[in-house]
Amino acid sequence: MQKCEPRVKKFSRTIKTKALKEDPSLIGEKVTVKGWVRTLRNQKTFAFIELNDGSQLSNLQIIADSSLANFDEIIEKATTGAAISVTGELKESPGDKQAVEVHASIIVVLGDVAPDYQLQKKRHSFEFLRTLAHLRPRTNTFGAVTRVRNSLAYATHNFFQERGFSWIHTPLITSSDCEGHGEMFAVTTLDLNKLPKTPEGAVDYSKDFFGKPAFLTVSGQLNVEAYAMAMSDTYTFGPTFRAENSNTSRHLAEFWMIEPEIAFATLEDNMNLAEDYLHHVVDHLFQNNTEDLEFFDQFVEKGLIERLKHFLESPPVRISYTDAIQILLQSGKKFEFPVSWGCDLQSEHERFLTETHFKSPVFVYNYPTAIKSFYMRRNEDGKTVAAMDLLVPVTGELMGGSAREERYDVLMKILKEKNFDFDTYGWFLELRKYGTAPHAGFGVGFERLIQYTTGMENIRDVIPFPRYPGHADF
Ligand code: 4AD
Ligand code: MG
Repeated sequence: MQKCEPRVKKFSRTIKTKALKEDPSLIGEKVTVKGWVRTLRNQKTFAFIELNDGSQLSNLQIIADSSLANFDEIIEKATTGAAISVTGELKESPGDKQAVEVHASIIVVLGDVAPDYQLQKKRHSFEFLRTLAHLRPRTNTFGAVTRVRNSLAYATHNFFQERGFSWIHTPLITSSDCEGHGEMFAVTTLDLNKLPKTPEGAVDYSKDFFGKPAFLTVSGQLNVEAYAMAMSDTYTFGPTFRAENSNTSRHLAEFWMIEPEIAFATLEDNMNLAEDYLHHVVDHLFQNNTEDLEFFDQFVEKGLIERLKHFLESPPVRISYTDAIQILLQSGKKFEFPVSWGCDLQSEHERFLTETHFKSPVFVYNYPTAIKSFYMRRNEDGKTVAAMDLLVPVTGELMGGSAREERYDVLMKILKEKNFDFDTYGWFLELRKYGTAPHAGFGVGFERLIQYTTGMENIRDVIPFPRYPGHADF
């Protein structure tokens, strides 16, 4: 096939400050930059303006000479938070804090700032900034979080696309509960003050929009499994919702999840993929977000870079749940939740394994059947499933996945035992009836991944507008 001629690009706008820093050929050139003022220092014969446009952590220094026609207006209005446009010559900076600076010939104040602006130069607590979720991206920390989040999303698609995976857009509205915890938000158009009732007095969902109860999905997995059974290697990446009343630093009611699903695969393939994925995205940050990582290392988690480098150099430990329980029992440590074979691992147990015992991320696999989801493949021992969780320091569970129960009879038995409704889950079972194949997958909590790679303590500070119990503002 003949290739198209490259078309003339129409989208060209103001140059970003990051590009100015990275392109030495621009020195001596006339440039126009636009952004928001971080600080203005009036030195009488000229003023220093620190400008930030979100493209990088560092500000661009602007020199505004008092000979500018609107110098007085600049001093009055180009204050912290104002939006300005600057045209001038890019020069090497004599100062050692920055490589380049712009000597302005024109400064236009696009939007000045009302006196009650709450983001003045001083430091604010993350709690306070949560009440200003619409303005907090203008701070150093949230700018850096936003760039890292963006890079991780890019690296995620890049990782899977390079390996031939198809991105599947699974639905957000569903009638099935993938994890079976009953923590779903209802989606309805019924008038809650005037609910239609059946003769037996129950809510008559046949009158509802979908003709039956519907919910926001907790996971795209069940749907992506259908596509893995046709496209072989697939993933979903989108928002998921959980109505769990968890007020912790690692739970959100709305969070993003990456869920690869691979055909003809075992639990070991699954762990290998998870390890390669994490390696890829962390490496991508080292290549593309050096300045942001250095900022987090200095101001958010001392030793972050060391920790991430250590991860790149030494792969996560892999141990069975049974061995993990042994380690916890032999540790001599008194846990708030006592440990015994069959118990779900609590955050304190996960942290002991990763932070104290192994000092490294840890895959724990082959969990007791009773504490894991219905779709996980039953092991031959009759008491465990081929599940895996990746535990990391501080955050605890970063990923969770399994080999899937691909045997029709076994899955049928499980669904019956657990009283699943075949109208809702029949299609999922049918995947095992027509050309079933061993397959596996996992889910990565995207916000937990951002926490892991930035050291940010609270998950509410790594998503633009966090939703958690009592909070759906902005
Ligand atoms: O372990 P989970 O519940 O697994 C699933 O949903 C599977 N269907 C995934 C799969 O196999 N395709 O959730 C996966 C990950 C967790 O390891 C955790 O990182 C994150 O999602 N997660 C949450 N993140 C933020 N807030 C919450 N409330 C979360 N619940 C789970
Ligand atoms: Mg889990």
